[in-house]
Amino acid sequence: MSTNLTKHNFTVTRERREEVNGQKGMVLWFTGLSGSGKSTIANALDDELNKLGKKTYILDGDNIRMGLNKDLSFSAEDRKENIRRISEVAKLFADSGTIVLTAFISPYISDRQAARDLIGDDFSEVFVDADIEECIKRDPKGLYKKALAGEIKGFTGIDAPYEKPTQAEIIIKDLSISESVESLLKYIN
Ligand code: ADX
Repeated sequence: MSTNLTKHNFTVTRERREEVNGQKGMVLWFTGLSGSGKSTIANALDDELNKLGKKTYILDGDNIRMGLNKDLSFSAEDRKENIRRISEVAKLFADSGTIVLTAFISPYISDRQAARDLIGDDFSEVFVDADIEECIKRDPKGLYKKALAGEIKGFTGIDAPYEKPTQAEIIIKDLSISESVESLLKYIN
């Protein structure tokens, strides 16, 4: 626990950064099962926004867990810490005037609510709603096969929970990638 801290208020405000960037900072929080398409859709949206001259950044579970969060496991406690750190990072990016796309399973309602509370009005939840059967069929990383064989313990959707959002701003269900991007672009504008 850190003590004896004093907050600095720097001269360049968020408003000034957004003015220079010609856009508002925001966080699109993608949640869904592994293999539901979170990273694929975030990637396609990022590509489109970049072509439109927008300043964006993707924070993605697998990538962040190879760096910043490489000390964390998939226990409920560590997933909570994973989401807490990502929320703080996403908040900083939004404050810099960036459009942040986060792609984490973030399986617990309470952890997503904490992210929503921390980030405030800039936070929008995007539920990529794919059935577990479909994710098992796709199995892009071969992890469901291992989880079903008991080689991975505590895998989301198999022997660890996924709590569906009840208040997502956007639900993506049975849409192609380009339809998903289209509806997200409409939401952003
Ligand atoms: S979260 O639950 O803490 O939000 P996160 O999105 O960071 O998860 O990481 C999920 C990715 O880690 C999955 O897409 C998968 O590639 C990999 N993974 C490895 N082990 C597990 C597990 N036990 N449960 C879920 N995903 C896992």
